[in-house]
Amino acid sequence: MTEVEYFMSFVKLEICDEIAVVTIDREKALNALNKKVLKDLDDVFKSIDVDQVRVVVLTGAGKKAFVAGADIAEMREMSFLESKEFSKFGNGIFRGIELFPVPVIAAINGFALGGGNELAMSCDIRICSENALFGQPETSLGIIPGFGGTQRLVKVMGSLSRAKELIYTGKTIGAQEALRLGLVSAVYKQEELLDRALEMAGLIAANAPIAVKNSKYAVNYGGEMAVEDGLDIEAIEFAQCFETADHLEGMNAFLEKRSEKNFTNK
Ligand code: CAA
Repeated sequence: MTEVEYFMSFVKLEICDEIAVVTIDREKALNALNKKVLKDLDDVFKSIDVDQVRVVVLTGAGKKAFVAGADIAEMREMSFLESKEFSKFGNGIFRGIELFPVPVIAAINGFALGGGNELAMSCDIRICSENALFGQPETSLGIIPGFGGTQRLVKVMGSLSRAKELIYTGKTIGAQEALRLGLVSAVYKQEELLDRALEMAGLIAANAPIAVKNSKYAVNYGGEMAVEDGLDIEAIEFAQCFETADHLEGMNAFLEKRSEKNFTNK
């Protein structure tokens, strides 16, 4: 790593009103994740004020890659213990994104391979550009997915057979195939992708922020439990909304037939 690389951040944060855009910016290595990029990503997410920001859009710099995976050059010499720590480090950060209080939309603008696909799968919603390519090529490198791919791929696609096929073959799939498999929700032209992500973020940001946060919590935590326990979580998150001023605003707006709503995050 050069001195310049060491002192600069590989992750940019732009905030426009209630929407944050986080860009992984290591374009010359196709935004590959080394320890510094991962640390910068963690720092940027931790710096986001979730009382102000209602939605995060996560993307990669350039037109070629979202993230081309964990940094192979950095991983090559790792020992058992170092690679275990690296996996835990990445997994901790990705889990933090998965459980981030406000929704995170991955705008996948190109390669989403290995750790790149795993990062995308830690986000709430994935949309991609037509040139996006997805895959878990780790077995072709002599390793396995180490940032959550063995766990999240099946959950995201809802098919153990398809998840195992992608991991065992290491094959790459295109945007339309990813759409068919449920890995992404929509495919757009490269030049439209960010605008479409911001449009979706705008729809989310227009809703009652506490209701959106509570929905995310119920889906995430409830989804990891037995149905009865998950439904209990839902009941609590539902009831908490009834203690907010925003639920009165939302319901009053409906009853008064008014389209403008003034949600105050309270
Ligand atoms: N790690 C380190 N460097 C990477 C990288 C990665 N994952 N992906 C790309 N780069 C670098 C290349 O080494 C190259 O650097 P130089 O210009 O210094 O040679 C630069 O980015 C541009 O890449 P290419 O010249 O290879 O670009 P291309 O268009 O010919 O190919 C690609 C693009 C198909 C994505 C190819 O770069 C590639 O296969 N990358 C590796 C993808 C991969 O295997 N990812 C999984 C990593 S393992 C992992 O992620 C483990 C985990 O779960 C934690």
